[in-house]
Amino acid sequence: MSARNASNSLEPREEWGTRLGFMLAAAGSAVGLGNIWRFPFVVGESGGAAFVLIYLAFVLLIGLPLLIGEISIGRGGRANAMDSYGAVTKSKKWKFNGLIGIIVNFMILSFYSVVSGWAFYYFILALTGNLVAEDRDYGSSFGGFISDPLMPVVWQLLLMAIIIFIVMGGVKKGIERWNNILMPTLFVLLIVLVFRSVSLDGAGEGLRFFLEPDFSVINSGVILAALGQAFFSLSLASGVYVTYGSYSRSSSSITGNAGGIVFLDVMVAIMAGLIIFPAVFHYGIDPGSGPDLVFITFPAIFTDMPFGTVFAVIFFFFIFVAALTSAISLLEVVTAFVKERFNISRKIAAPVTGLVIAIVGVFASLSFGVLSHVTLIDRTIFDLLDFLSAEVLLPFAGLVMSIFLGWIWKPAAVKAEIEKEGNRFPLFTLWSFLIKYVIPLVILIVFLDSLGII
Ligand code: PFF
Repeated sequence: MSARNASNSLEPREEWGTRLGFMLAAAGSAVGLGNIWRFPFVVGESGGAAFVLIYLAFVLLIGLPLLIGEISIGRGGRANAMDSYGAVTKSKKWKFNGLIGIIVNFMILSFYSVVSGWAFYYFILALTGNLVAEDRDYGSSFGGFISDPLMPVVWQLLLMAIIIFIVMGGVKKGIERWNNILMPTLFVLLIVLVFRSVSLDGAGEGLRFFLEPDFSVINSGVILAALGQAFFSLSLASGVYVTYGSYSRSSSSITGNAGGIVFLDVMVAIMAGLIIFPAVFHYGIDPGSGPDLVFITFPAIFTDMPFGTVFAVIFFFFIFVAALTSAISLLEVVTAFVKERFNISRKIAAPVTGLVIAIVGVFASLSFGVLSHVTLIDRTIFDLLDFLSAEVLLPFAGLVMSIFLGWIWKPAAVKAEIEKEGNRFPLFTLWSFLIKYVIPLVILIVFLDSLGII
């Protein structure tokens, strides 16, 4: 099947209704649990502010340039995450990199849906006024909930059903329409929470941990974690931007959109840190306590706070919405691929894909309870899916993508795609230098370093 005909014959290729539609959906993918749930606990495990600085350097040096390139592949290729690689170069060899992204999306959604399900449940708990009372013991009930064999799975499957429904609705009427509603809601909620958090007392120690770097804590594991966090948080090299970019019109500004996505993503992560660390230290919670951090810290804060119940509802709705818009993008990448490759309609591709992912996801959920003893390289199923996707496969796909952009498709062709309808590509020479030399080299060094080879 030629990539250009990859859109199936049952439906013409879909497009975003507006330019803002692409921007909001792409930012919706980037801003998610990675910023609000994963970022704080990885910062906590990696020693604080020094990690944050390295993460920011990776975002600017590697994330932004790759993001520009990844959207260009999609807009130029106008096909799913795999076939777009073939469409822009007329060579099939590099499609495997798109396939890695699709597999990673599958893996991420299988554990992402677990945490999204937790957020969904906590939102409903807060809404029904049950959260504060239940978690007065600062999290023991959370541990009970996630290790239960049934409850978290029910919420996870409910969440999967919602995103399948949205993705079945299509690019404009499903994904775009929901992002147009959910993303502005998310920003309003964020602003409310930041105002609330700056007025908390006892913030000093937490802020120091988050903002004052101590470089003695840096080792190769921390550097790899920072690289992984940059990729995960930006949804980078996963095929999301290829897929979403393929639905955008040639008049859209790729560099402008990429800048906007990075700005929003970093801003939300930093704000999440500013909200969470003061509370973590205030309540004497261990910042390195892992994936539970946000779910344990927040019920504790809301218990003591005036109007705590209201803020609890806002906070968990915020996490739930952020998770939802990212989960939509994860399902869309795999769905678009299945739909175009097997020439079936979206209405069939989305539920079938979602169902298979949900089945794998159940194992990820059970790894907090009955399957907690099943481990590989010291990691449970959940941790392994997270580690392999964020710290191995995404940076690897990013490394291959930089080689593809810099040496195969070539910077001049990327520039031509970006400038097709009168948009400019500022700092093109710097971009091309970073893509050709700096990015592949830095990723390679981080990999070799973490393997103990250098
Ligand atoms: N960027 C999302 C987040 O920060 O929560 C997670 C994610 C979504 C990663 C989509 C990868 C992806 F393809």
